[in-house]
Amino acid sequence: MKSNIPKILFVLFLLNSIFIDCYAECQSAVVTEQHLASRIGGDILQQGGNAIDAAVAVGYALAVVNPCCGNIGGGGLVTLHLANGKNIFLNFRERAPLKATPSLFFKKPADASLKGFLAVATPGTVLGLETLRKCYGTLPLSTLIQPAIKLAENGFILQKGDVQLLKESELLLKNQSNVRAIFFKNQRSFGEGDRLKQLDLANSLKLISKKGPDVFYKGSIAKTIVNESHRYGGILALNDFSHYFVKFSEPVYCYYRGYKIVSAPMPSSGGFVLCHILNSLERVPLRQLGFHTKDSTLPILSAMSKAFKARNKLLMPNPEGLQTTHYSIVDKKGNAIAVTYTLNSFFGAGVIAGHTGFLLNNEMDDFTTRPGLPNQFGLIQGKYNLIEPGKRPLSSMTPTIIMKNNRVVMVLGSPGGPRIITSVLETILNVLDYQMTIEEAVNAPRFHYQAIPNRVDVEEGAFTEKTMKALRSCGYQFTLRKPWGAVEAIFIDPMTHQITAANDKRRPAGSVELSRGLPRDDGS
Ligand code: DON
Repeated sequence: MKSNIPKILFVLFLLNSIFIDCYAECQSAVVTEQHLASRIGGDILQQGGNAIDAAVAVGYALAVVNPCCGNIGGGGLVTLHLANGKNIFLNFRERAPLKATPSLFFKKPADASLKGFLAVATPGTVLGLETLRKCYGTLPLSTLIQPAIKLAENGFILQKGDVQLLKESELLLKNQSNVRAIFFKNQRSFGEGDRLKQLDLANSLKLISKKGPDVFYKGSIAKTIVNESHRYGGILALNDFSHYFVKFSEPVYCYYRGYKIVSAPMPSSGGFVLCHILNSLERVPLRQLGFHTKDSTLPILSAMSKAFKARNKLLMPNPEGLQTTHYSIVDKKGNAIAVTYTLNSFFGAGVIAGHTGFLLNNEMDDFTTRPGLPNQFGLIQGKYNLIEPGKRPLSSMTPTIIMKNNRVVMVLGSPGGPRIITSVLETILNVLDYQMTIEEAVNAPRFHYQAIPNRVDVEEGAFTEKTMKALRSCGYQFTLRKPWGAVEAIFIDPMTHQITAANDKRRPAGSVELSRGLPRDDGS
């Protein structure tokens, strides 16, 4: 009798390869800092939208459910890998008002670049998201913005993580009556379980849904912002809005241990500093030297120091005549998108124009506003980052995609000012060198060194006492800080193609949506 074993083995082999490929082709993932936004991204993918559609819907949703950081009054950067193999970078960073000059803040109070209308640069998010949708999306704007409108109109239930973010910025949010009216409930702070409704924001989103970005850049929204800016000492004018444009460019590329890093070019220092550090570490056997030991940390600190010194001295945003949020999405077709967008500080400049319902950024503080003095992130920046009319301030945002053999392996990014870059770096090292799972890599304690100030910031548990002692003897000082950053990352195993994703535990309101996810609670 002839044996059936070879046949069975062949069928098993076939099934196995289909199954393995299916992981790559059949799974998708969305990870953001707010679970309702992650879910909206997941829903859009389930409805047949691609990763770009989901990114647009998540961008609008985070403006509602993560108002500290998600925004339509700020700007951002996108690194995109298309299923057809192309890599694309989109810059929708804010621009300085056309009336701004290098000395704008020289004789102003220290917080003038942080609070109030003078701190506001021309927002880019609405045009950025719409440009993404038009170029690479498949669904209409009204479909993608509708979930955000619903959340703003009906409100959503605040969880512990949401309330923490509001609490941290109570003082700022109390300042203006129209801001207070939204973020306080009968003069008291919102608590866990309360419902936050944002009716003015719902109206602005409806206008954008109906009329497109024109209403933001040429219509009633632009007019309201300009009028209020004028009234409260700002310099935004209608032509700042009507001249606003977004820019596509090539991403920054480098190689690390056989992986291709695709990251943010100017006006961000993110990709440059990340690649500078990775290049320095390419020949250092980190894994052999151990995780966060003296011997592995010394070359990392030295690489960070060199890269940040170069950043502050040399990098120049193209002159064109805390708080940020990052999200990562991959779809079943093979598109991958890393979006980092920001109001700069938590709740931006703390101002809302009239009844527009959304916070405006304080991105002017990312410029060299007062040469020789540190900004809110301790960065002392150079002359190339001085304010100029229409210029985009130098950023540290680092939306990054990592590839091997033309397939996406990681999608990640973070908030955190300059600590964005080191948060992204350490997550990459944790996966590629230390072979951690994506969850372990994202949640491992971090350290950050930017040369000036000359101290190493550490999260609790980043180093043992013995290691710190050894590093101190080499001249490094340490400052223990509250946990920072929020890396939202996806990992696709290059061997099995299995997708895993991690929401940073430092942002407990966030979540991962995998296409084959478990049933979820209805939190809205
Ligand atoms: O573009 C930048 O580098 C800053 N505006 C980012 C600010 C930020 O990440 C705040 N988060 N802590």
